[in-house]
Order: sequence, then structure tokens, then C-alpha cells
Amino acid sequence: MGVVDEIKDRVDVVEFISQYVPLQKAGRNYKGLCPFHADTTPSFVVFAEDQRWYCFGACATGGDVFTFLMKKENLEFSEALRVLAERAGVSLAPRTEVDKKRDERDSLLREINSSAARYFHHLLLQSPRARMPREYLEKREMMEETWGTFQLGYSLPEWEALSQHLTQKGYGEEDIFAAGLTVEREGGGYYDRFRGRLMFPIRDGSGSVVGFGGRALDDSPAKYVNTPQTLLFDKGSILYGIHLAREAIREEGMAVIVEGYMDVLMAHQHGFKNVAASMGTALTESQVRALRRLTKSFTLAMDADAAGEQASLRGLEVVKKHYGVEHRQSPEIRETYQHIWLKKYVDANIKVITMPEGLDPDDVIREDPDQWRRVVGEALPLMDYYFQVAEEGRDLQSAEGKSGLVRQLLPLLGEIEDAIERAHYLQKLARLVRIDERTLATELTRSKSRGRREAPTTDGQPAPSFQTAPALESYCLALLLKAPEGVREIGTLTADDFLAIENRSIFLALESSLEGQATFDIQEFRAGLDPVLEERLDSVLRDVVEAPSLPEEEVLGEIERAVSRLRDRRDRRELLELENLLRDAQESGADESALLERVESLRMSILERQRQWQERSEWAHRGAR
Ligand code: UTP
Ligand code: MN
Repeated sequence: MGVVDEIKDRVDVVEFISQYVPLQKAGRNYKGLCPFHADTTPSFVVFAEDQRWYCFGACATGGDVFTFLMKKENLEFSEALRVLAERAGVSLAPRTEVDKKRDERDSLLREINSSAARYFHHLLLQSPRARMPREYLEKREMMEETWGTFQLGYSLPEWEALSQHLTQKGYGEEDIFAAGLTVEREGGGYYDRFRGRLMFPIRDGSGSVVGFGGRALDDSPAKYVNTPQTLLFDKGSILYGIHLAREAIREEGMAVIVEGYMDVLMAHQHGFKNVAASMGTALTESQVRALRRLTKSFTLAMDADAAGEQASLRGLEVVKKHYGVEHRQSPEIRETYQHIWLKKYVDANIKVITMPEGLDPDDVIREDPDQWRRVVGEALPLMDYYFQVAEEGRDLQSAEGKSGLVRQLLPLLGEIEDAIERAHYLQKLARLVRIDERTLATELTRSKSRGRREAPTTDGQPAPSFQTAPALESYCLALLLKAPEGVREIGTLTADDFLAIENRSIFLALESSLEGQATFDIQEFRAGLDPVLEERLDSVLRDVVEAPSLPEEEVLGEIERAVSRLRDRRDRRELLELENLLRDAQESGADESALLERVESLRMSILERQRQWQERSEWAHRGAR
């Protein structure tokens, strides 16, 4: 956790603001007269849950504890940081000591994992006791070169073989445990997690070993044992094989995502190097994000069963309700939604490969690499794939079949943001069921507004979009640093568009450093920043370096698009906050006309923006023809 988050964690915004503004509880939130404008009706609200404040009166703006203090006392970010750090009891200087410690720990755990990988690999290659795994790999047609490339290994079927090896090398038991390699015994002490298994070291993007998957060589009920969540290893944000696939993904402009370790091995062995594995789960946002600098195009190889399960879904209405709101959703629902959501919000171009019944990519490639080339080439765009799955086994001559298909697909179509694309699929559906397209379009609008009434707070906007805001903010900053004149040209961009206080502060610094200056020097700019902001700047700058370079004349346009999306997110967030507030207001019988007005104006600007996007994409479409 960074200092800023640590401070926010410790300073309660309600308590802090109460020092300046008398607040009254209203529902789940707190209300008072706005300290930033001459307020007569209490239009200043503090959200206890979100730890944010908001003025829905003349200011129509809000923020967190930092922005409040900065505004109230007219402070710079660094100054506010000092004040709040003191209050929170977070010391700023020794923090770097803590950072250092964490870094040291991080590299120790990496070292232990690499050492284990070398040990397992050595056993596989040299040990007379590794005959079985060697024969197993041969039987599966894995070449020795592949064993080496992926540093495959073998763990002896003993309770402490690895632990002993590592302690002899001088590593402490606790550290070996923290690296995920051992399991705690009930009576104290540890034993090896991986025993008698074929070992797959899992590496992060930079190629360092962060965990393992171990495959059983008999038909033990646990086919794979994996490293649990550790300081280093988070299964959901790593793709197996990514360090070997990066270059090919960049070159080919596309990543193929398979499910299994074995699939990756076989693909690479046959020269399909843009392949990495999600390790048996649906592709996650952070996995996509890790690849985003390389490509936006993903081709997913799903097994046929998973596809079948998804086909039985009732549609997205269910999914919407479940995703991000409730965590106990079924994995199938989550998966469908996740892919659509990724497409929509991460702006990824997703295609789906349907594997021949009962075969893994591993089998397909081994049988015939050309067959693999073909299935990858025939991958369907996500929506066409859902059409295909939904059509299966339906009698489209019957009224029932038609209505079933429409009910299944229409909600999905409603999720397509691009108007042209949506029209395309509406047409496709209309042709399939031989029903007038306008009838379907009406039905689509009706089902959308029905969904809205049922879930007034989300307004068709799933909560996870907030999670993408920070990424969007840094992307936007990255673009601005690339073309600082954008700040001047895009007059509509303001600090309020950045929700994260660090981003906001960097933006403000950028703005003022550009004031009255002809040239912009990034080193100078960095040197002038608070050390806490430097860290954030560096991570943004890394994005700049790795981002695909846009032609100069396109950067401004891209900035404009990013800003518009940023603002959309901000408005939607605000809308959500206000709608919550409105519900509370109804309960407590408080005055709500000001709220309603603001809600209305937010809705209008969201709609207006959507109209502009639509116009632009129609225009672009026409231009392309
Ligand atoms: P698969 O069952 O398809 O395994 O699971 P596989 O990799 O193709 O292995 P083979 O071909 O049967 O030998 C796909 C992936 O799901 C994860 C692993 O990452 C696996 O590669 N998985 C599967 C687990 O983590 N645990 C399991 O018990 C099963
Ligand atoms: Mn397999």
C-alpha cells in the first residue's frame, strides 16, 4: 500500500470534515452546508462508505480527504500530505525503509522460487528416480528442448526433499513457506507442497519464477497442485508462458489464450509463440491489462464444454445483477459476463476459437499443426460466437425456437456500445428468426428500460467500470506527458477529471509547469514533484515508453477520446452516488429537488456524450467506406 492509501485508510473523512463543517447524519451518509460556496440548503454530502465528499449545489464537485483539505486550506498536495500524514501517524521518511524491506523480501522469495525451479529441473534431467516423469513427457511428445525452454522439473515423492535442499542452501523455513513451497503441519513445522509431481515453474512478465504448477503423474484426484496466493503469486493476474510469448504477441498483434500448461508447451514447441495460458480460469482484467501494451486482440481457445454451459445462460440481465454486486455468482455466469465486459470496458477485441469436441489445443496441435492454424484463423468475434452457441439445437422454424433465441441474444446485443456494431447484429438476429428488424429494435429498447427500472442504481452500468478508472487516468496522463500541448488544446480537461489524488496532483503540476513556458522538460518536471508523486509518475512514464506509438497527429484525438471516457466515468460515478443519496433522502424525507436536478443534468450529459460517440463512430464508419 502506498502512503496515500495508508493515510486514507487511517483518516476517516467524516471525522476529518466534521472539524470544519457541522455534519448531520442522513441515511448512510452525512450532510451539511457546503464550505466552498454560499450555501443555504445543505448540499454538501460526505459518503462514509466511499470516504468521499460531494457538493451537489453550485460547486457540483467532490473528492476525497486530500482534495478537501487542499481546497479548504488552499494547500499544495505536498503540504496536505504532510498534514494528513502527521494526523494519521504515518511517517513519510521511514516509509522508504519499509519499501526497501518489502523489496528485499520480494527478491528473497523470488530467489527461493528460482532455486526450487533449478532443483526440480535438475532432478528431472539427472535423477534416476525421475524415469517416470521423463517417460511421461516423451509419451506426450514433449521434446527435450521444450523441457529446457520451460525449465520443467520433477519433485520427489518425499515429505521434505525440497525443504531440506533449500535449508541446506541457507534459506529459512519461514521464508520457504512464505514462497508457497511448503505446507504448515498441524503440530508445527512444514512439509513440501509438491511431491511426486511434474513441475511447471510459473514466471511473471519479466521472466522471474513466482510460483509453480505441479501435475500428478498418476490419476490422483488433484490433477494439479498450484502455488497458493503469496506475496509474489496471484494466479488471477499472471498468464503462464507470458515471458516467452511477449515478443510474438507484439509482432503478430494478437495473443492466443489457452487454458492449460500443456497447451502452451505444445504450441511453443510447434512455433506458435503468441500463446499463453490463463491456467484454467476465465481471462481476468489484470491479465488483459498486462498484455494491453502489447495488443488489444485476444483469441480465446475455450473447451467445448465450457461453451455449452454458457449457452444455457438466461442472458445478461442475470449476469449484470451478479457481477460485482454479489460475489457468489456461478463461474459460468461470471465467465460470459467477464468476456463481454472486457470487450466493452478494456476495449479489447476478443475472438473465440471453438475447439473440436473433446480436444485440447495440445491434442489439436500434436495431431496436425495446420489444423490449429485453421481453427485459430476461423475464430469468431465474441458476439458471433454467442450467436453460434445460442443457435445450437434450436428449431428456428418454430415460434418457441425463435423466441428462445431472441430472449437469449437480445440482452447481449443491448450491451454493445458501438451503434453500428449493434445494428449489424440486430440485422443478423432479424434474418435468423425472420422477424422484422424494427420489431426487434423496439423489443431491445423495451428490455433495456425494463432493466433500468429493476436496477436503478447501476443504470445499465456495472460497478466494475470504476475499477478501470485509475488505468484510464494513467493512460490519459501518459498521453498528456507524451504530448503536453494537449493540456492547452483540450481546454475542457480539469483536475476534477482525475479521481486518484496522485493523478490529480500530477495533472495540476503539469498544468502549472506548462504555464508561460515554451518547452517542457520531463526530467525537470519530475525533479519538481513531491517524492510521493514521483513514484506514480514513473509508473505512468513506463506506460508511455511501452505504449504503441501513435502518429503525432493522432495523439490529440486519442487524448480527446480518453478525456471523454474519463469524464463519462466520473459522471456515472457521481450519478451512482447521487442515486444512492436519493434513496436515503426518500427514507428520511429530506429535500431532494436539488438532487433530482443534478441527477437529471448528469443523465443528460451522459446521454449527450453517448450521442457524440455514436455520431463519431458513424462518421468514422462512413469515412471508411
Ligand atoms: P486441464 O485439465 O485442461 O489440464 O486444465 P491440462 O493442462 O490440459 O493438462 P493435461 O493435458 O490433462 O495433462 C487446464 C488448466 O487448468 C488448471 C491448470 O493450469 C491446467 O493447466 N488446473 C486444472 C488447475 O489449476 N488445477 C486442476 O486440478 C486442474
Ligand atoms: Mn490437456
